Amino acid sequence: MNILHIDSSINGTNSVSRELSRFAVEQLIKQHPGAHAEHLDLISNPPPYYTSDSLGLRLGLEDAALTSAQRTENQLTQTLLDQYLKADTVVIGAPFYNFTIPSQLKSWLDRVIQPRKTFQYGANGPEGLSGDKTVYVILSRGGIYSTSEQGQALEHQESYLRVVFGFIGVTNIHFIYAEGIGMGAEARAEALSTAEQQIIQLLQTVELA
Ligand SMILES: Cc1cc2nc3c(=O)[nH]c(=O)nc-3n(C[C@H](O)[C@H](O)[C@H](O)COP(=O)(O)O)c2cc1C
Repeated sequence: MNILHIDSSINGTNSVSRELSRFAVEQLIKQHPGAHAEHLDLISNPPPYYTSDSLGLRLGLEDAALTSAQRTENQLTQTLLDQYLKADTVVIGAPFYNFTIPSQLKSWLDRVIQPRKTFQYGANGPEGLSGDKTVYVILSRGGIYSTSEQGQALEHQESYLRVVFGFIGVTNIHFIYAEGIGMGAEARAEALSTAEQQIIQLLQTVELA
């Protein structure tokens, strides 16, 4: 098993999603001795925002036609893409900031959602090319959104990640919820413990892609 472990919380050691993503990776390694895990910390090492210089790979431009800034951008995108493509299991700590994912995680997605690499357009429209992965996403949220229609309509974290990973072919995607983190110490402790149980259960039942 080749695990890519991604964190995107700005909360350091106080982060719920970091604690739970680490827990999930530890559990996976326990279940699959010999598994290799690579950690990508999008806060200590954030991919720069996309600019016009970042479009070379997307446009399929030949290396010789690129400026040095474009080449640097291409290399960075290619490195992140290769790291994603070689993983068969991806664990993502995805906190809920202002109703959606952290911008650093969006920047990473901008790098890995690439034509001809992770998606293409065929006769029937878009086709995802990275469906050979099992993806686990830990969602940490200050409030509670998953249990009501109103909450589900307000959140653009799980709904967005479902769409983008679906677009690049990932159907084996599983969400773990740590909600109500901002609702007091007791609620936080309960959310952590519930999420750990969810992880343990999920890892016992999921069939790997
Ligand atoms: C900048 C920022 C924005 C946030 N926005 C929301 C929000 O829109 N809704 C919510 O329920 N919680 C919000 N929260 C609370 C976080 O979702 C909560 O603290 C969660 O635990 C974050 O995950 P982490 O602990 O891994 O960083 C926000 C927190 C921060 C720091």
